[in-house]
Amino acid sequence: PVALYGELRKNSMGVNLANDNELKALADAVNAARAPWSAAPLVPGASSGGPTVQVADPAKRSRTVGSWQAADAATVERALANAVAAQPQWDRLPAASRAAILEHAADLLEQRRGEFIALAVREAGKTIPAAIAEVREAADFCRYYAAMARKLFAHPEQLPGPTGESNQLFLNGRGVFVCISPWNFPLAIFMGQVTAALVAGNSVIAKPAEQTTLIAYQATKLLREAGVPEAVLQLLPGDGATVGAALTRDPRVAGVAFTGSTETAWAINRALAARNAPIAALIAETGGQNALIADSSALPEQLVKDAIASAFDSAGQRCSAARVLFVQDDIADKVIAMLAGAMDELKVGDPGLLSTDIGPVIDADACSVLAAHAERMRGEAKLIKEVALPAECAEGTFFAPRAYEIPSLDVLKREVFGPVLHVIRWKASELDRVIDAINATGYGLTLGIHSRIDATVEHIQKRVRAGNCYVNRNQIGAVVGVQPFGGEGLSGTGPKAGGPHYLLRFATERTLTINT
Ligand code: SER
Repeated sequence: PVALYGELRKNSMGVNLANDNELKALADAVNAARAPWSAAPLVPGASSGGPTVQVADPAKRSRTVGSWQAADAATVERALANAVAAQPQWDRLPAASRAAILEHAADLLEQRRGEFIALAVREAGKTIPAAIAEVREAADFCRYYAAMARKLFAHPEQLPGPTGESNQLFLNGRGVFVCISPWNFPLAIFMGQVTAALVAGNSVIAKPAEQTTLIAYQATKLLREAGVPEAVLQLLPGDGATVGAALTRDPRVAGVAFTGSTETAWAINRALAARNAPIAALIAETGGQNALIADSSALPEQLVKDAIASAFDSAGQRCSAARVLFVQDDIADKVIAMLAGAMDELKVGDPGLLSTDIGPVIDADACSVLAAHAERMRGEAKLIKEVALPAECAEGTFFAPRAYEIPSLDVLKREVFGPVLHVIRWKASELDRVIDAINATGYGLTLGIHSRIDATVEHIQKRVRAGNCYVNRNQIGAVVGVQPFGGEGLSGTGPKAGGPHYLLRFATERTLTINT
């Protein structure tokens, strides 16, 4: 009876790095996967003429990871025509058949995790543990959405009616769905968006972030091998201004799943609204200005450990990452000193080494934006710590992790998407001002609370607008089917990825009434 929430479903096991045999098998598989990789549009019947883009390793720019060819306008047009033609038949398949394809894809992903891990490390600069988690999460999305589709889509809901009348509610795909995915979870979010749209009965055109096209190409090929017909899942590599914009202004598109910046989500929303077409569904997961609030009852050791994971894991390039630590003044000096000490232990460098904690940021543009923020902070903040970068980091796009003390949230005009933590002190009488300041940012993604006082936890949790609130732990790494993920306000539209309501937004409902 609690079927939707109490899933009898296990998440992917990942890799046990403490087990020598598993570690060796993983190392062999990763080493067997060799650059250069290549990618091109996956669109039946198209002969693309777009430019070729070289991919450099963010940890060492002189190392080529591969290259890919962008889609041109004719390829975009072909993809749209294919997707429209292929969708009805795909939608008429039993939902269980689509679910089985996703489950097969999850198995293939786990069997071939070496190649995906190698790509996540070399193309996206992910550390090995982060790359392992990426493959796990992608497999979890496949299996979770498969399970949800079996429940929600496989049979119509029987509804009550008078004698002599049958009423049924069916869920169907909306039509052509465009999935625009980010580079920070280049496999997990790509697979999550695409598999949700597919299993609900949509045909999908995927436009991955330019920075991580190679891994998206491999994932698309894997899904096709698992059984998704070619015209039902197509890949259009390219930039947002050409490929993304051409898709979102097209009246044939019935829905868009987007993860990225709030500004791009607004642009997509405007483009969809300007069409002379049925109003499209938009599922947007966007930015955050995530806070971690610690009161004087917090355990400093645990707080610092969780703040470091929340702020610096994945080089801070998670939308869930903690950007601002509000620490109550009674414990602030101690916490700040411990934070500086703990940051000294962080190892920044080649993400291909298991000993590395923090890899590069995604590209030179990301470095420049972070450098500009650091320049601004020079006048407005007090530097708590800047982690020293080893010499080899000069060959890649690394940004030294750092923490600042700032007087108030007003100093932060926008999300700082990298390994930068800001610390603000507050006094006991100011808790509600802290809460108001957080809400005034307009974002509402993650919130961390460190407190041993139940009433304080409840007070904060009930008042701060945030989609995912974590108490006395870190605030990253939401688990599929366990911590449905997504924000409110400027942080996104919902429904939450990896949650029981996600598939519904990809579907239309039809009621069938029969006089029997
Ligand atoms: N889902 C990721 C996390 O929870 C962020 O995108 O960290």
